[in-house]
Amino acid sequence: MRVKVSRKAHFNAAHRLYNSEWSFEKNEDVFGLCNNPNFHGHNYELIVSVTGNIDPKTGYVIDMKVLKDLIKSEVENAFDHKNLNIEVPEFKKLNPTAENIAVVIWNKLRPHIAEVNDLEIVLYETPRNFVTFSG
Ligand code: NI
Repeated sequence: MRVKVSRKAHFNAAHRLYNSEWSFEKNEDVFGLCNNPNFHGHNYELIVSVTGNIDPKTGYVIDMKVLKDLIKSEVENAFDHKNLNIEVPEFKKLNPTAENIAVVIWNKLRPHIAEVNDLEIVLYETPRNFVTFSG
């Protein structure tokens, strides 16, 4: 019996979307406002879900306190109030789109989640735009 448990989190971060191999005009065409050279911010909403069997001893799939602390140390401390392009090493050469941010978060959390459990990341860049990555 596998159960999915989820924890919501939140961070604010700035980014700029562009491809350094393209001209400014081409970047404007593809990324529009997100290509603003002076950066802009988003209020990211994150849902981290772990799916697994219920431990008969605890009744938990994963201790929510453990999951909360993990998200804090791996994601919030690394991303919150940061400029993703400049201050977060993973995005030095990777465009910080919602897609890529979700994959980076998954890769940061995956080693800390028991191998028998599945991990899913849902990342909202705006209330209407969100991406899902589960490995
Ligand atoms: Ni943006």
